[in-house]
Amino acid sequence: MIKHPHIRLSSVIMGLSSALDLVSSKLVHHHRQTTCIAGRIADSMGLSDEEKSHLGIAAALHDIGAIALNLEFELFQDGGQLNRHAEIGYLLLKKFPPFSEAARIIRHHHRLWNDGDGAYQEGEPVPLASHILHLADRVAVQIDGNACILSQCHRITEALGDDTGRWFPPKVVDAFREQASREAFWLDAFHADTSQFAIDSPTVPWNVELGLPTLQQLSELFRVIIDFRSPLTASHSRSVASIAEAIAKQVGFSGQSCSLMHIAGNLHDLGKLAIPVSILEKPGPLTNQEIFHIRSHPYLTYRVLNSIGELDEVCSWAALHHEALDGSGYPFRLHDVNIPLGARIVAIADVFAALTEDRSYRKGMNRENVLKIMHSMAKERKLDAFVFDLVVNHFDALNELRAIAANTGNQEFKELRKELSLLSAENIPGEKLAAAPQQQFRQEHFS
Ligand SMILES: [Fe+2]
Ligand SMILES: [Fe+2]
Ligand SMILES: [Fe+2]
Repeated sequence: MIKHPHIRLSSVIMGLSSALDLVSSKLVHHHRQTTCIAGRIADSMGLSDEEKSHLGIAAALHDIGAIALNLEFELFQDGGQLNRHAEIGYLLLKKFPPFSEAARIIRHHHRLWNDGDGAYQEGEPVPLASHILHLADRVAVQIDGNACILSQCHRITEALGDDTGRWFPPKVVDAFREQASREAFWLDAFHADTSQFAIDSPTVPWNVELGLPTLQQLSELFRVIIDFRSPLTASHSRSVASIAEAIAKQVGFSGQSCSLMHIAGNLHDLGKLAIPVSILEKPGPLTNQEIFHIRSHPYLTYRVLNSIGELDEVCSWAALHHEALDGSGYPFRLHDVNIPLGARIVAIADVFAALTEDRSYRKGMNRENVLKIMHSMAKERKLDAFVFDLVVNHFDALNELRAIAANTGNQEFKELRKELSLLSAENIPGEKLAAAPQQQFRQEHFS
């Protein structure tokens, strides 16, 4: 019997924030450091718990738009024009009700103050929290992770320049300077300590306890980030989630466990955020270095989900999807009984989706070829034979679910791109099928 998870929104946000920081070596701790700094400035300015709560959510996820659409080059620039990622972040987050105010803050997080003009944008008031986030972000990007932070305070403070009225509201700069006079502020920022961000009030969004439906909604948001980094994977996690949930139902999992299975499917490739898109989209066989990269992703999924706490089932089902019963899987090289049934289901759903969907190097396979490959994997004890039998018996229904997920996912991807006027033929999933060897599947799924 699986207990109902009692998870605070803040735990999930900070876990997902760490996941965003996996994307680039330049981003190490960036979201968490920005959150810490923004929280300190908010304290100096006397923001209410409610305001600080929205600011915390916004800071922890502020560059999510850049990560979703691979605009990472924008992150370390500034000037108020290079802010497509802020608009994308707004569009992504506003769909999730507890994030609607944070979405508004993110939308304007590169807005210049311009001696007061920055209080509005196109007639709409810009939240003060956006300006706090802007300053916190600019401070965080100046931190050099390889040097002692106390040797950097002067340089970073100087980098804000004298003409701060052009960039930030003076009261935000004053609040920052008050904090910056203390070594502990810098040390907390460097170590990305967000524990100081604790907010007492139990009713603010930061402290909201998530029910299963809200948790699932949040996992859909992250599924979009995971899948949309490449048009070639635009529906993969959605497919795995649908197939894994359907198999779990056939196995007899409870309604709650089926929902957790759906969440595990959505998040199973969370660790792929750390894999460069050039590898994900590579049409030919992977080099050894690239295979090492790929092999790290379930471990990173584990690290992030494990850090959230109270998500044990989702964490093990999602993160163990490349383990094999014969012990040849990765990254933990687990055997038989140590691989839970839930993880075996996600593993089968992952292989089923990978074989049936269009990939960069081939069209989706037909029933005969899919079952032939999966049969030999089950025979070699790479996959669970009992779960595989369910796939054989329900192949058409599962493939139908996969096709629906692919259509919906690809449609969702196109709409988001269109909303941002970024749509171009080369970005449309399924229309970029390069002719190349079919080795990538084998390299990802076999040792
Ligand atoms: Fe940004
Ligand atoms: Fe940033
Ligand atoms: Fe995977």
